[in-house]
Amino acid sequence: MSEKKILIFGKTGQLGWELQCTLAPLGQIHAYGPDQLDLSNLKALESLIHEIKPDIIVNAAAYTAVDRAEEQLDQAMLINAHVPAVMAEAARQLNASFVHYSTDYVFDGTKTSAYTEDDPTAPLNVYGQSKLKGEQAIGQVGGAYVVLRTSWVYSLRGDGFVSKVLSWARKQETLKIVTDQIGSPTWARMLAETTSAMVARSFPDPREYFSERSGVYHLGGAGGVSRFDFTRAILELDPHPEEQKVAKLEAALTADFPTLARRPLFTPLDCSRFEHVFGLNLPNWRDALRLAMG
Ligand SMILES: NC(=O)c1ccc[n+]([C@@H]2O[C@H](COP(=O)([O-])OP(=O)(O)OC[C@H]3O[C@@H](n4cnc5c(N)ncnc54)[C@H](OP(=O)(O)O)[C@@H]3O)[C@@H](O)[C@H]2O)c1
Repeated sequence: MSEKKILIFGKTGQLGWELQCTLAPLGQIHAYGPDQLDLSNLKALESLIHEIKPDIIVNAAAYTAVDRAEEQLDQAMLINAHVPAVMAEAARQLNASFVHYSTDYVFDGTKTSAYTEDDPTAPLNVYGQSKLKGEQAIGQVGGAYVVLRTSWVYSLRGDGFVSKVLSWARKQETLKIVTDQIGSPTWARMLAETTSAMVARSFPDPREYFSERSGVYHLGGAGGVSRFDFTRAILELDPHPEEQKVAKLEAALTADFPTLARRPLFTPLDCSRFEHVFGLNLPNWRDALRLAMG
């Protein structure tokens, strides 16, 4: 079996960082971050893909600043909708497969049970709209593609929610956390591992494998939890609880923290389609958190 070329975008992000590690055993990795290529330059992006001629493109790059996107609609649309369209088109021309990520924020959060891929989308903010446009653009190009909608991605690198809670807990005696946002926390490492397991299953012919399974799939930590209970679990699993200053976790509502972007309140993802089609599953969010914090 000839070595596959795997092109990763977003290598400095939470997920992209982990993908560099988990995809490495599967082929020759070409990883790009903003220092190597500004994705806003669509022509340069297209040329690069044609130059490398990958077998698989995995795009973990995105405009993820949810509030800033409200004021930078053009940039959010460029990175989250036009860039994936260019990647999908180049992949199609090269007979490559394309793996892309989307978000639970394509939903409005008014459902009362976990969202499936068949539920209607209705994003509440520019970020969600731009990610939905990206999904649709990829679907229009067609080819061998998989869009993985994930949610509440965290990593112990960088300043995601888990790192923030650990840092606040060392500085503040009271933490005010919302009880009315419920979602599926997803450890970036676990998401990368599962993506890589899916890619491994596609060998020796990723093009044919993904062509037969092209579409949108939900892939997040199993189960749903409120930000409040997630925070409680983070504090409980903190490997250095002796460093904590926090004495009280206070319940708050989303309305107590006005933000530029509206956020959907209830977005747990039903991942059974992904599990069924690829024969893989993500562990419960709490088990993943325990491993992440260990
Ligand atoms: N984080 C979440 O809670 C969450 C939830 C649901 C879905 N998702 C989706 O999951 C995927 C991975 O998210 P993540 O949390 O790993 O995101 P992240 O940590 O914000 O990483 C995104 C990466 O994209 C890069 N990027 C942005 N604009 C770029 C540009 N113009 N040129 C080159 N690179 C650029 C960023 O570089 P800079 O950092 O230097 O800008 C960063 O390395 C994304 O598709 C995201 O939409 C995330």
